[in-house]
Order: sequence, then structure tokens, then C-alpha cells
Amino acid sequence: MTVDNLLWSKILNLKNAIPEGKILGWRYVNGAFSEILSTQKIDTDFDAILIPSQLLNQIDVSGFDITKLPFKSLYLITKHTLSHTDKCILQNYWPLAILSHFNDDLPYVFIHSATSLDGYLATCSGHSHWIGNNENLVHSHRLRALFDAVLVGGKTVLNDKPSLNVRHVEGSNPKRLILSNKCDDLSALKEIADCETYLIRNEKFGYDDVANSFDKFIFYSGENKEEKIRDILKKCKDENMSSILIEGGGDTLSAFIETKYANIIQFHISPLLFGNGIKAVKLPEVSTVNEAYELSDMFVTPVGNSFMITAGLQ
Ligand SMILES: NC(=O)c1ccc[n+]([C@@H]2O[C@H](COP(=O)([O-])OP(=O)(O)OC[C@H]3O[C@@H](n4cnc5c(N)ncnc54)[C@H](OP(=O)(O)O)[C@@H]3O)[C@@H](O)[C@H]2O)c1
Repeated sequence: MTVDNLLWSKILNLKNAIPEGKILGWRYVNGAFSEILSTQKIDTDFDAILIPSQLLNQIDVSGFDITKLPFKSLYLITKHTLSHTDKCILQNYWPLAILSHFNDDLPYVFIHSATSLDGYLATCSGHSHWIGNNENLVHSHRLRALFDAVLVGGKTVLNDKPSLNVRHVEGSNPKRLILSNKCDDLSALKEIADCETYLIRNEKFGYDDVANSFDKFIFYSGENKEEKIRDILKKCKDENMSSILIEGGGDTLSAFIETKYANIIQFHISPLLFGNGIKAVKLPEVSTVNEAYELSDMFVTPVGNSFMITAGLQ
């Protein structure tokens, strides 16, 4: 999914655009994006539009492709003549670029990881460089540029020594959020200028040398996992984060899935088999198929020699 630099700049601009009124949807015509501010102006002279379901019956969409997306239940309506690559680009990045226009109580939570075909995101020794291919690396940097913050668990910091910034595409660095109570050495996290880094910690653990080496802290509370995750998200929202990208590891992303605070899951599946390792998703067991967590509005995107699955979780 190669994205032309000009198109990418326009998508990034959408993230920072200040709306001039109540937005009903978004239009894409001849390589330019605009907002739909009135139903009277929705003609079918577009290459693509992104609209909520309420607008669907107000437009004559015969002769267009209609795709229900897992993002905010938006519909992507595209001209038949739009290339498959352009449709993939719009489907993957356009909805994320306009997330800040939805003024929700909690940040939008998006999970992206690369896994082996048998569902592991690292080997038993914690090695994961790199399960995903080069194209996925670039994609993950595009995601970082579209989100307000990127979150990982303490073990990912120890094992991967990640930068968590945007290096492979144009765009601003997100805030970096590290979820860890007990890890007494998070120095593997690279020092990056222009990257505010927060430690997210249970308030019971308080301040120490590790906490004091971060730019900011979020201390959360709660009696159970659900209350704790909700409190983390509420405090992130109070810090002006409207969207959070969770890159892993398994314990971290699973906590957001289990408590039903993750909106989207996206796994890049690599043609590798580990046999054993660190599982990507660690959830309470179900005994019958109909008890399984069911995903919605799934779509598949080609990524180099492999593919990526994206689906809704709520
Ligand atoms: N393939 C990929 O795309 C990808 C992406 C990211 C990471 N990884 C791999 O994932 C592996 C690590 O995964 P992992 O599952 O072992 O660990 P992890 O999720 O990275 O980190 C686990 C730690 O995060 C904190 N944490 C997680 N959930 C929490 C919750 N609900 N409440 C409080 N703290 C929580 C805890 O830290 P404390 O114990 O300090 O409290 C916990 O020990 C690494 O080897 C890394 O290479 C792969």
C-alpha cells in the first residue's frame, strides 16, 4: 500500500483541520478532501465519501461501492473506477484522520501488532524484530502520525527498546505512554526530542526514581481491571488525548480488549510459524464458539508479501 506523499500530507492535514461548522461527512474529489456541511449539497460528483449511516438514504448511491467500516460505524462510498490501492488508502487512514472530530468521553483505542500465522507476537525469549515486513513498518509509522498517543507495556520496553516515534513518514510524534507498575528499569526507552513520555502506573506504587525519569505520570485507581482501564483512559482524555494506538505486548492489548475499551483490532499476519511464544491475545477461555468475542465489519488489506486484518471490537 504505497501512499503518494501529496495524498499523505492531505490526510495529515485533515487531522489538524478545525471544523467550520457541524460536519455531516467528508468528501474526496480529484485528490482533495472537503467537509460535507449540508445534506442539500451531497451530489454524486465525488470519488469517495465518508458518512455516518443516517446519511446513507439521503444520497443516490446506485453505481457506487458501499463499505461499512468498523471505525465509528462510518460508511465509505467509492466510485467503481477508484483503484483498489486508493480505496485501501482511504479505508485505512481517512477515518483515523478525522477521529478528533468525534467528541467522545474516552479516547478512541486502536490496537495494531504484527503476529505470526499461529498467533504469537514474539518468540518465547521475547524476540520480535521484525515479525512484520517493511511495508508494515511504514504503515505503523503512519498510524503513529495519526494518533495522539502510542501505548506499550513495560515488557515491550524492556525487550524491544522502542523509539515509538514517527521516522519513516511525514508527521508529528505522538505522546508515548508506558504502562508499568513494577518494572524498575525502563531506561531502554530511547530519549527522543519532541516526544512527551508518560508513565502510567497504579497510584498504590507512587513515585520513585523510575517514575521521576518520565516527563509526566498518570496514576490510576480502581478495584478491578475494568475500573482501572477506564480510569487510565479517562485521565488520558483529561490530558487532551482523543485517540490512543496500542502496539502491544499481549498483556497490555488484551487488558483493553477484555474490558471492552478497545475499539479496533488490527493484526498484520506474517507468513511465519513459531509453534510457541508470547500470545498476541490473552483472554479468559470460552467453552463454546458462540461465547467467543465476535469482531465486526472486518476488512483485509494487502501488506507486501502478506496481509492485515482490521475489525471492530464493540
Ligand atoms: N509483534 C509486535 O507487533 C509486537 C508489538 C509490541 C510488543 N511485542 C512483543 O511483546 C512482548 C511483550 O509482551 P507481554 O505480553 O509479555 O508484555 P507487555 O504487554 O509488553 O507488558 C506487560 C507489562 O505491562 C504492564 N501491564 C500490562 N497490562 C497491564 C494492566 N492491565 N494493568 C497494569 N499493568 C499492565 C505490566 O507491567 P508491570 O509488571 O511493570 O506492572 C505488565 O507486566 C515483547 O517480547 C515484545 O517484543 C511485539
